[in-house]
Amino acid sequence: MVGRIIAIDGHASTGKSSLAKKLSNEFNCTHINSGSMYRAVTLYMINNNLIKYIKSDTNYLISKLNDVKIEFRKDGGKLKLFLNGENIEKDLNSLVVSNEVSNIAAVPEIRAKLVKLQREIDRSNGIIMDGRDIGSVVFPNADIKLFLTASIEVRAKRRYDELIKKGANVTLNDVIYNIEDRDLKDSNRKTSPLIIDDDAILIDNTNKTISDQVRMIKEIIQSRFYN
Ligand code: C5P
Repeated sequence: MVGRIIAIDGHASTGKSSLAKKLSNEFNCTHINSGSMYRAVTLYMINNNLIKYIKSDTNYLISKLNDVKIEFRKDGGKLKLFLNGENIEKDLNSLVVSNEVSNIAAVPEIRAKLVKLQREIDRSNGIIMDGRDIGSVVFPNADIKLFLTASIEVRAKRRYDELIKKGANVTLNDVIYNIEDRDLKDSNRKTSPLIIDDDAILIDNTNKTISDQVRMIKEIIQSRFYN
């Protein structure tokens, strides 16, 4: 995988990150969940009482971007996301953050800042990055582009179970609403909307386990990189 780039894009809660994580372990390469970066900016804006400006005074919100430092630090061989020096990964997947993140991700200046960081990450060992615009914008020349989708019922149930396991107080309907809302906003924003690239491999994982998907993608990787 040395120097190779795999882009995994797709709809919300299709298991992109879990899949990317497993593949990166198999191939000993870097995994970046770009959604966590948009979530970190959102968390900052919520915690600092700035999220209320998202529509009323976007320029003010953008002016605060200089105060947001996002970096990945190595911890136990894996990269962990730090926001202004603090490991905040455990706070990123709450529904409070999920309900605002697509509004934050639609702001072009915020996207520009994060895309720059994504392109600067060391790719020498090979990188698997998951998100919404990885194959279309961040790495248009990626070696392999995947686009994941699944039925809304299956996606919502997976995310709901995850949140309940973490002790969150949410209903299945809250989760369905959030996933549909994010897909709609992510697909319809002006800057870097979620699209299925012409050269992306479309995977509907409604009836596929993560092991099925890993097996399938390993075969693609083997045939493209090692034959
Ligand atoms: O991947 P995840 O679902 O955690 O992403 C959260 C949100 O971040 C998405 O719904 C989308 O609004 C935004 N995002 C994005 N571009 C990316 C990754 C995530 O706009 N590359």
